[in-house]
Amino acid sequence: MNKPNDLPRIAVDHDDIDLNVSSNEQFSTVLNARLSRRNMLRGGAASAATAVLGSFGLTACGGSDNDPVTQPVTPPPVGTTPLAEKLLGFTAVGKSLADTVSVPAGYTATVLYALGDPISNNTAAYKNDGTDTDFENRAGDHHDGMEFFSLSDTGGVSTTGVARGLLAMNHEATTNEGLPSFFVHANGGTNSLPRPAAEVDKEMALHGLSIVEVRTSGGKWEYLKGSGFNRRVHQQTEVQISGPVRGNALVKTKYSPDGTKFRGTINNCGTGRTPWNTYLSGEENWAGYFHRSATDNAARGDKSVASLNRYGAAQGAASRHGWETGGTDDKYQRWNISKLGTSADGSDDYRNELNGEGYIIEMDAYDKTRPLKKRTALGRFAHESAAFGRLLAGDPLAVYMGDDSRGEYIYKFVSTAPWNPADAVAADRIATGDKYLDSGKLYVAKFNADGKGQWIELVLSNSAIANYANYKFADQADVLVNARLAADAVGATKMDRPEWCAVNPANGEIYYTLTNNSNRRIEPSGSSQMAPDPANPRSYTDMKGTTAQLGNSNGHIIRVKEDAAGSKATSFSWDVYLFGAEAAADAARINLSGLTNDQDFSSPDGLAFSTSTGICWFQTDDGAYTDVTNCMMVAGLPGTVGDGKKVNLSYPKTDGSTLSVDTFVGKAASADTLKRFLVGPVGCELTGITETPDGKALFVNIQHPGETTAAANVGDATKYSSQWPANTGYGAGKRPRSATLVITKNDGGRIGS
Ligand code: FEO
Ligand code: CA
Ligand code: CA
Repeated sequence: MNKPNDLPRIAVDHDDIDLNVSSNEQFSTVLNARLSRRNMLRGGAASAATAVLGSFGLTACGGSDNDPVTQPVTPPPVGTTPLAEKLLGFTAVGKSLADTVSVPAGYTATVLYALGDPISNNTAAYKNDGTDTDFENRAGDHHDGMEFFSLSDTGGVSTTGVARGLLAMNHEATTNEGLPSFFVHANGGTNSLPRPAAEVDKEMALHGLSIVEVRTSGGKWEYLKGSGFNRRVHQQTEVQISGPVRGNALVKTKYSPDGTKFRGTINNCGTGRTPWNTYLSGEENWAGYFHRSATDNAARGDKSVASLNRYGAAQGAASRHGWETGGTDDKYQRWNISKLGTSADGSDDYRNELNGEGYIIEMDAYDKTRPLKKRTALGRFAHESAAFGRLLAGDPLAVYMGDDSRGEYIYKFVSTAPWNPADAVAADRIATGDKYLDSGKLYVAKFNADGKGQWIELVLSNSAIANYANYKFADQADVLVNARLAADAVGATKMDRPEWCAVNPANGEIYYTLTNNSNRRIEPSGSSQMAPDPANPRSYTDMKGTTAQLGNSNGHIIRVKEDAAGSKATSFSWDVYLFGAEAAADAARINLSGLTNDQDFSSPDGLAFSTSTGICWFQTDDGAYTDVTNCMMVAGLPGTVGDGKKVNLSYPKTDGSTLSVDTFVGKAASADTLKRFLVGPVGCELTGITETPDGKALFVNIQHPGETTAAANVGDATKYSSQWPANTGYGAGKRPRSATLVITKNDGGRIGS
């Protein structure tokens, strides 16, 4: 059934959502004691390098010599590069509003794989004028999280190959937050309902995953259009529901009456890789793609309404792109999650479809014959990355995860199966995923004022969950499907939008980017605002031109150190590695990490540690500091939890009293420990970070350049806010395209030295 086309459509930031109106902070103190027992080329000759820079026009900046072409480029033979180089020895890249990619002098960034690039020999070159089709065989849109899977020289599975590999990546979304995806349609697309089937089909194909083979050839990285490994996963790809939710009543649909399978994966954001060499992808803002009728609450009349509301699917809400209006075919109707059928179990409609989204999905990048599996044991929420804790033979595996909406939570999954190092090279990688990721315990984090914290298990035997007034859980599968509600019940700490997490290979500490939170207020009002707390301690006013931005506008990076039990620990210590801030901001209340102009950043998002250099790379997806600089990537050399100090923040309240918040901030940044490495083109976010095992090629994604273009200007290239990467000489047309960069060091060294 098509929905009326007169519903209000408001442009919204789908990465900036608050749905958590639970009152758990009031409950938390009472319940805690009782419930918290458990928690980018310059290889080859100088002439080749000149050609690359000449054609792509990428910027190297920051040094007194801004022109890397003039610098000597004779890379040492492979295998002879000294590894004792000074890390962060490069000159910091300056903040920039230019429509280009800027990297330090001595580095080269090259466009490798952009929206629409064909991944089959039978698919035409991308015209980039809105007439292209066959997106099931092209790069999708909005490149996001990404992992490099090595291949041997003969194309076999490898953990060490550095010259050939597979890039697996997420295609999170498409440009335009509402109707339609305007850069991929000739006239900008149909901005009303019903949507033409051909437009919907194209947009559905743009979302999902890519696997594409890349290799170095004569010192130049390229993707292989005709590789047999290449693959797209999109909205018609069959996937399996795996783990405790498989077969549960909550996931029975017309497509899968027995609740065992699903179609596709959507809004995939952060990534992870398993110790057995498979790809993990987090399903993030999936709820917005679905339509639910204005009278559906009454039609349902059951507890599913509470679940739908908590997960952002209020009745009457318009879907993001109106895909449910594409036609009567089931592939369109599945996006309408209203109760329409007469069955008792939902097997004659898509009332339960939303319960099939919101998971970590596992894929074997090397083998397209193996099923993709949604790993339901890891809980259902707005997933970002999934990072494995340090591996210890005989101990369970810990997987760290965050839920990206304002006021949502941080989670940990602990496997039932103890780690067997032999599984690192298991022949059947998906079966290995079955072993470790389908059974275990899910915990949520509570951060305390003393710098400690607890992992609280989300299990039906917890009376706060069993007796939760706002939702009656039927079984453990229900707890996993409705993990947010269970976390509300146990009083978990509402965080400033948990984005990616990553584990420091040097010491096993877990880092979480908390990107920002406009609802963190000194004196909260309404159910969606929250006061500063020790782990989310800042609320301030930041000016963007004449606009006052409230809350924690610049975000922070928190880190956690497990107690002695390691992966099994139910308690931890924490501090804040870095607070995002403008360098000129108040050092006592805002710029608590002492950031300088070479380091200042806002809204950290993508996060990964190099396993080669140990560098902590993080990337921004920002709207607060974009009057001064485009989004960026920063390199850090962090210390450890507790290497800084306790800081008190005092906030005057309107009644004359003071809100006093103590927090723990890590050692202040210095020029030797934190440096800006890259600034992207106009309107983009930086996301996705992966490397070759030798750390000499770093792959990074530029997502949604030109996003700030008005839909009405799509036919006029002079009015695009960005023309990247076309303005570097990459590809046809001038429409901006999300794209993968490969970054290399001109002397052949490791990235970040
Ligand atoms: Fe897709 Fe939370 O960013
Ligand atoms: Ca500002
Ligand atoms: Ca993100």
